Amino acid sequence: MNNTGAFQRLIVLLPTTRLATGFALLCTLMVATPSLAQEAILEGDRSIPAEAKNGMVVTSHYLATDEALKVLEQGGNAVDAAVTAAFTLAVTQPRSGNIGGGGFMLISSEQKNEVVAIDYREKAPAAASRDMFLGADGNADEELSRYSHKSAGVPGTVAGLALALEKYGTLSLAKALEPAIRLAQEGFIVPVRFSDGIKSAADRLQKHESSRKVFFKPDGSHYQPGDRFVQKDLAATLKRIAEQGSEGFYQGRTADLIVAEMKRGGGLITLDDLKHYQPAIRQPVHGNYRGYDIFSMGPPSSGGTHIIQILNILEGFPIGWTGHNSAETIHLMAEAMARAYADRSKYLGDSDFVQVPIQGLTSKAYAEKLRRTIHRGRATASATLLPGDPAPYESNETTHFSIVDKFGNAVSNTYTINFSYGSHIVVDGAGFLLNNEMDDFSAKPGVANAYGLISDEANQIEPNKRMLSSMSPTIVKQGGKNFLVTGSPGGSRIITTTLQVLLNVIDHHLNIQAAVSAPRIHHQWLPDEIRIEEGISPDTVRLLEGMGHTVTRQAAMGASQSILVSSDGTKYGGADPRRSTSSAKGF
Ligand code: DON
Repeated sequence: MNNTGAFQRLIVLLPTTRLATGFALLCTLMVATPSLAQEAILEGDRSIPAEAKNGMVVTSHYLATDEALKVLEQGGNAVDAAVTAAFTLAVTQPRSGNIGGGGFMLISSEQKNEVVAIDYREKAPAAASRDMFLGADGNADEELSRYSHKSAGVPGTVAGLALALEKYGTLSLAKALEPAIRLAQEGFIVPVRFSDGIKSAADRLQKHESSRKVFFKPDGSHYQPGDRFVQKDLAATLKRIAEQGSEGFYQGRTADLIVAEMKRGGGLITLDDLKHYQPAIRQPVHGNYRGYDIFSMGPPSSGGTHIIQILNILEGFPIGWTGHNSAETIHLMAEAMARAYADRSKYLGDSDFVQVPIQGLTSKAYAEKLRRTIHRGRATASATLLPGDPAPYESNETTHFSIVDKFGNAVSNTYTINFSYGSHIVVDGAGFLLNNEMDDFSAKPGVANAYGLISDEANQIEPNKRMLSSMSPTIVKQGGKNFLVTGSPGGSRIITTTLQVLLNVIDHHLNIQAAVSAPRIHHQWLPDEIRIEEGISPDTVRLLEGMGHTVTRQAAMGASQSILVSSDGTKYGGADPRRSTSSAKGF
């Protein structure tokens, strides 16, 4: 991440008190920093204006922001803009923007007083089986679950975006695809982050001739900032979707190319898997925090359930008073996080296959029970912290963007191919990367996935099942009005990143840019440590260590693209400076 170092160098200069002033200073400093200024020249205006009356778009790539904003300006709604942004990101930010992966979209309509979730998470192919990632020695084989053709789940993005548009949008699929097709066909100017990303993934990408052809020049050299990057195969793939709808991806030539790629590399996805892939419209999980209505993604994501669980635990502590990123607040957040992640390891999985006790996990009574186990001044060792006992079962590099329109609609979308560049395998002739989402299943009970997350039987591999996710697109409403639209990438850190944006706004009253930029912390039960970004003061770290916490400094965590709508309807965008291409614009 090219700007992370600069961001972190700047943020350590900030005073540890008066943080709101500090963040304003940070934003000023960022504009003045030479390396960032140079990127800005290359990458265009990224945040102008981030305050607007009509509509607001915040994405991780300025070209996607621009194209989605045009849709809003021309009278389209937030869903039209979201689908346009998602297809544009698939072209301009192929490390995470995708058509070969999956994700979740929350859509809030004030008019209908309804929030719905579109689940377009990948599914395990029909031929997948519980032990498919175990080697001869019985151990989980990371190379197989993360970088092989078998690591790919059946992609859901195209079907999910098409469904969103058909049910909640006004544009045709062909129209929403126009900017993406143009940018793939004619190319776009490579920004620093794009060329740095490919350099860092070069070894793995070069292993596959199909990936080498797309991401490197014909002579094998790197695309440099300022070069034009053209993707003819991807343009043709997108055109087939524009002409034939979802079937133009899940059947016919693209499906044939995916299956041929599977045959070449021993993958499992078949024509039947593709033909039968269906996205689902689900009820988001819902909670209430200090009078705000929180809507977020339920299973097969763990995100929403645990955000609400952690908020419920924290509601009993005066964390606005204990203060933003003070040792006491960080301690309370970490303790609540650890308890939620312990529960995640046991209870969460695809609710089409296993019963997930969502109501128990998100109940105020269970939160109170957990809260009583938290000592105000002493860390609980994770080894002593087992998954709790919620009320019984009841029937019951990722990228995020947020969009609000002038009609009272909001979209919060997180989608992914799992790692940056997913499996690193491009479908030959179709020009897009395959996900490696199968690694989000539990390869073996008790064995961690790439994010150190442990899960159990609820998340074991089964044919056609969706792998557990942490993606947490979230919409907060106040008095029936859309108030905050947020979410983030970051693997296991997605839940805690999104949570902290909520706390920063609701408890600490930071403006949206400060709420997104502020240094973050993370605890996921195991490993038993609080991870902190630069910007948490050494005094605070010492106090936490004094309570018995292990504290480790980490690179930047997450990248939250968020919007806050004030009571007079003004939309404020907060683009995350942890991604140098992030962009918030409104009109
Ligand atoms: O669904 C999940 O939780 C993960 N596959 C997300 C991966 C991710 O966020 C990587 N990005 N930074």
